[in-house]
Amino acid sequence: MAFSVSVSRLTLALSDAVDLVGVDVVQHGKRVALLATECGRELGWGEARVRTLCLAALLHDCGVSSTHVHRQLVDTFDWEGSDEHCERGHDLLGDVELFRPLAEIVRHHHTPWPVLTASALAPDTALMSNALFLADRVDAFIHQQGESNPLSASRGVIQAMEQRAETSFAPELVAAFRAVAHRQATWFTLEPHHLERHLAGLMAPLDERPVPFEELRAIADVFSRVVDFKSPYTEEHSRGVARVARLLGSLAGLAERDCELLEVAGLLHDLGKLRVPDEVLDKGGPLTRAEGATMARHPFETYQILGRLSSIPELASWAGLHHEALDGSGYPFNLRADRLPLPARVVAVADVVQALAQDRPYRPPLTARKIVRQLRHLGRTGKLDPTLVELVVAHKEACLAAATVAA
Ligand SMILES: [Fe+2]
Ligand SMILES: [Fe+2]
Ligand SMILES: [Fe+2]
Repeated sequence: MAFSVSVSRLTLALSDAVDLVGVDVVQHGKRVALLATECGRELGWGEARVRTLCLAALLHDCGVSSTHVHRQLVDTFDWEGSDEHCERGHDLLGDVELFRPLAEIVRHHHTPWPVLTASALAPDTALMSNALFLADRVDAFIHQQGESNPLSASRGVIQAMEQRAETSFAPELVAAFRAVAHRQATWFTLEPHHLERHLAGLMAPLDERPVPFEELRAIADVFSRVVDFKSPYTEEHSRGVARVARLLGSLAGLAERDCELLEVAGLLHDLGKLRVPDEVLDKGGPLTRAEGATMARHPFETYQILGRLSSIPELASWAGLHHEALDGSGYPFNLRADRLPLPARVVAVADVVQALAQDRPYRPPLTARKIVRQLRHLGRTGKLDPTLVELVVAHKEACLAAATVAA
């Protein structure tokens, strides 16, 4: 089955997810997209090249899952371990046909210019990578200045970039940046509401096109890996939830298209966890009130991000409602049974099944008997759909295998 998807909306949604890793320093990818594309235009690049650069910029930090790594990236100008997230981003994007042209650009977004020119990289790609590098460091530098109006930081930023012409950046790129930075509008556009509008305009020409299910799943899988890579507690969780959700959907008699979407929803359900700091996600014991509030936000973030994909409106609710309960005691919308579609209930059950079946660093996986007892308890007390719970119980070998073992 093919799904009609807008490439620009999809990329913006995914960049929302990548941006969450910044916790409070959000929209980094979008600011880099603005700064890099403005430099590209200044250099007279054509529309297609500017758009490719824009997509690469929006996703350039997809190799960063950890809030700890993200902090280093924004707090330090040059940083020893920066290569790792570039390689990871390259490998992730290379796995998806749609994003393959971006992989090589992303790989070198922390490589100094003299190294790039001495490499075998195509000159066009090298300059695009270097534009990302420059824009990325400009944004980090603005952040370090701690000014509420980016224009106030402009002089220091321009000087810092000029000092790094030749050693870090292509001289022609630094010259282009100087022209871009001279316009006050550039700095004002970096503010959140202007930035969103600007990018929406820039990306508009990229329109809806049919995307085969396999490709949609490959894209979702990349982002599930970004989420699951965050913590040993979540490793493989999303993929397991996706497999159980798809299986359970078909056991419940849902149409093939819905089962396919259930798999995608399973892969993406915890996307919002990218905004949860590592130390909260990895905390074994009870959470403080503030940590609990941070954790409670994740399904809401998932819901908002997937809401951008207006051509597949089901995805947001199927993935974003996985912590709602039939009796209204779930979060974040407190929806009751009459507002919870069956596929959303399927993802909620799959989430619990996977979590119980998974081997955790602090405990071995539960036995099938204990899992059944817990699921039935949740069904009886109005948390999970009891009919779906019984369906899992009736097919427990298949469901538990799907939760933990790749098909
Ligand atoms: Fe970055
Ligand atoms: Fe969750
Ligand atoms: Fe989950």
